[in-house]
Amino acid sequence: MKTESTVFRLVAKTTSGLEAVLAEEIRLLGGQNIEIMTRAVAFEGDKKLMYRANYELRTALRILKHVTSFKTSNEQKFYDEIRNIQWQMHMNVENTFSIDGVVSGGLFTHSQYVAFKAKDAIADQFRDRMGIRPSVNTTNPDLRINIQIQEDQVNLSFDSSGDSLHKRGYRNIVDKAPINEVLAAGLILLSGWKADTPFVDAMCGSATIPIEAAMFAMKIPSGYFRKEYGFMKWSDFDQELWNSVCSEANEKICDFNHEIFASDHSAKAIDIAGQNLHSANLHKDIRLFKKPMEFLIPPEAPGILIINPPYGERLEENDLKALYMNIGDSLKRNFKGYKAWVISSDFQVLKHVGLKPSKKLIVYNGPLECRFVCFDIFEGSLKDKKTREADAKS
Ligand SMILES: C[S@@+](CC[C@H](N)C(=O)[O-])C[C@H]1O[C@@H](n2cnc3c(N)ncnc32)[C@H](O)[C@@H]1O
Repeated sequence: MKTESTVFRLVAKTTSGLEAVLAEEIRLLGGQNIEIMTRAVAFEGDKKLMYRANYELRTALRILKHVTSFKTSNEQKFYDEIRNIQWQMHMNVENTFSIDGVVSGGLFTHSQYVAFKAKDAIADQFRDRMGIRPSVNTTNPDLRINIQIQEDQVNLSFDSSGDSLHKRGYRNIVDKAPINEVLAAGLILLSGWKADTPFVDAMCGSATIPIEAAMFAMKIPSGYFRKEYGFMKWSDFDQELWNSVCSEANEKICDFNHEIFASDHSAKAIDIAGQNLHSANLHKDIRLFKKPMEFLIPPEAPGILIINPPYGERLEENDLKALYMNIGDSLKRNFKGYKAWVISSDFQVLKHVGLKPSKKLIVYNGPLECRFVCFDIFEGSLKDKKTREADAKS
C-alpha cells in the first residue's frame, strides 16, 4: 500500500446527533475545509492529521481516507472502474482485504452485491497480472475498502481505523445495556461541560460515561488504551510519525481538580464498573459508590450529572414511571445547583421526571432514537431565581 503524505480528503463517521460536536473536535485538531454531512464530517488533512484523528477524536467511529471517486451508469462500468485502479500500488497479493459497501438511490440497491462485484474486480486484476489473487478476510483484513454509492456517484476510501474507534481498549466487561463509548463522549461534549465542575453519573452501569468524562477532563487521548489501527498495516505506515503523534498528545495529559462520582444501586454493575476503572487506570480518579440515586449526595454545586437510566424494555410501565419520578425527586432534593442531563428513548416516561427541560437534543443509541434533555436544578424555585437575577441586575 502506498499513500501520499500531502493533503487529502478524510471522512470521520459518527452517529446521528453528534456531527456538530465531531466537527468542532476536528476544527480544534486543525482539520481544513470541514463539511458536516449525515452521520459524518468531511475534512482535509495530511497523514499526521489522519493519525491524530484516529488517536484523539472522541466522537468519531472511523476515519476514512479518500482514494478515488467516479461516476457510473451500470454494474459493468462499476466493475471496470474498480478493475482499472492500480491495486498493486495499494496492496500486495499476500495482503487480505474486505469491502464495506453503502448504497443509496435507485441505481444500485444491494450493498452486498456492490461489495461482491468490487471484490471480483480486484481479484481478477491480480489474477490477470500475477496468476494468483489476494484473499478476503472480513474480520481482520490488512486493507478495509469502503465503497459508498449515491445514485451514480461512487466514492472509494480506505478505512484507516480498522475496528470501530468506540473500541477504546479499556472496557473489557459490560453490564446490561452499556452505552457506546463514542455516544458517551458525545453526550459529555453536547452537555457543554468544560471540565470545570464536578461530574456525576448516578446510574453508571459499566462506568462508560464517567470514564469518558475523566478521559476528557484529564485530556487522555481516546485511543490511549488501544493497540491497533487499520493504517498500521498499510505499507506507508510511518512508525516515527505515529510515535510523535502519540507522545505529543500524551504530553497534554493533566490532573483534574474536581471530583468525578460514579454510582449505581446494583452490586454487579459496581463490580464491573470497578474492573473497567482499573483497566482504564482511573480507579484513583473516579469515586465509585454502590447506592441508589436517591441516597447519593453529590459533590458541592455547581456540577453536572449525566444519567442513562434503564429504558422501557426491561421494566413494567408502572416501575418505569416510579423510577423517573424518583429521578425528579432526587434531583430536586440533592442536586440543587446542578445541570442534570438524562438520555432516554422513552419520550413519554421522561415526562415523569416532573421538571421542565431547559434543552432537548436528539441522539441515537444504536438504532434507538433518544432524547437527551437537560434540567437546570435551581437552588430555590424558578420564581426565586428570576427574582434573584432581577435583583442582581438592579
Ligand atoms: C442503561 S444502564 C446504564 C448503562 C451505562 N451507561 C453503561 O454504559 O454501562 C442503567 C443503570 O441504571 C441502574 N439503576 C436503575 N435504577 C437505579 C437507581 N434507582 N439508582 C441507581 N442506579 C439505578 C441500573 O442498575 C443500570 O446499571
